Amino acid sequence: MNSESIYQTLLKRKPHYTLPQELYTDEEVHNFDLQSIFYRHWIFAAFEVELPNSGNYLSMMIGNTPIVLVRTRGGDIRGFFNTCRHRGAQILAEGEGRCQRIVCPYHQWSYSLEGELVGATGMDQDFEKKSFGLREIQVERVAGTVYVALSSDAPDFTPFRDAFEPLISRYNLLDGKVVHHQKIVENANWKLAMENARECAHCDVGHPELCLSLVNGFTLDHDDPHNVAFYSELTKRGIPTSHQEGSWYSTGHVPLRPGIKSMTMDGNYDVRKLLSDDVADLGYLRWSLQSHCYNIALPDYVFTFSVMPLNAKQTLVHSKWLVHKDAVAGEDYDIEKLRQLWETTNNQDVFLTEINQKGVGSTGYEPGPYMPEAESWCERFTDWYCDEAKKFLEEKTMSKL
Ligand code: FES
Ligand code: FE
Repeated sequence: MNSESIYQTLLKRKPHYTLPQELYTDEEVHNFDLQSIFYRHWIFAAFEVELPNSGNYLSMMIGNTPIVLVRTRGGDIRGFFNTCRHRGAQILAEGEGRCQRIVCPYHQWSYSLEGELVGATGMDQDFEKKSFGLREIQVERVAGTVYVALSSDAPDFTPFRDAFEPLISRYNLLDGKVVHHQKIVENANWKLAMENARECAHCDVGHPELCLSLVNGFTLDHDDPHNVAFYSELTKRGIPTSHQEGSWYSTGHVPLRPGIKSMTMDGNYDVRKLLSDDVADLGYLRWSLQSHCYNIALPDYVFTFSVMPLNAKQTLVHSKWLVHKDAVAGEDYDIEKLRQLWETTNNQDVFLTEINQKGVGSTGYEPGPYMPEAESWCERFTDWYCDEAKKFLEEKTMSKL
């Protein structure tokens, strides 16, 4: 599909229905999604504690673009395109590490932690090193969470910060440590992974373990005394009772089921040393960015779920678990137990998302109607995607005039 045919497909999309087939299956649409969504929007990239000291770095891919986050000598976190200014090699291999200088393995050009080119082998004396520093990307930090945007025209970050910072600050994420990662290559388009993450109509049957603790937000009984007490606690503490939302983010507290302390296999805390003593009555805190993630903070741990498209029919799903830095493995928590609920849930979702991909790739597929209430967040996601995609194409056309 070229840009014009993508635009026509977006225009013809039937409201309140799933997307046309090509938007879930076409490789050109995959490239288009990287340009229009993943290279233009805020991406949740890390917890600050993953970069504890000067020289610590995290190297990762955003679509086909290698980037690196670095803790500078001054303690700041900066982000750069992980592409050498000499002949363009990827400099740091994906993963985490620590260095004093960022050195390209190809011809050993070297960069300071602040991205300046400090060594350029083979160049003349009068070579202007200062014009060839690493190209910088935008980085924002919110109470221990780190976001990046590759484009300078990403949406204004301030409304998200204003909504999220007072809520997440209670969880003391700067006192945390990441204790587990799960990475899954899912055989499905990233939009199906996100639609699946935007509804819980599949939870009762699909996630019996999660349903021990999770209240389905769409069927929440606001007259139930447990929920009434939950919302009055939020009000008493000056916390909004509804989600704070912008077009590209959403955050808010949601009650757990009565008698449940945390989202675990048995509903009790899985980590004895809590992140905060102050959040026991606050259910769970959810924050999600429209393009690629949903995350959950509980008194004893934080769980994050991010998707990154690999091609039209494959998506990398990366989950992380964060606990208090002083919690001792084997004493305060059992990592096997801690990872069990969300790994089980993720694996169940892999099955659901992959059968979804197989079906939408069928010659018999036609877009189907979303359930008005239970899938309203799916619809908002696909509406947002279509709006952003159209906007991108319209701006591209305008810029050519
Ligand atoms: Fe990096 Fe040559 S490409 S030093
Ligand atoms: Fe699910």
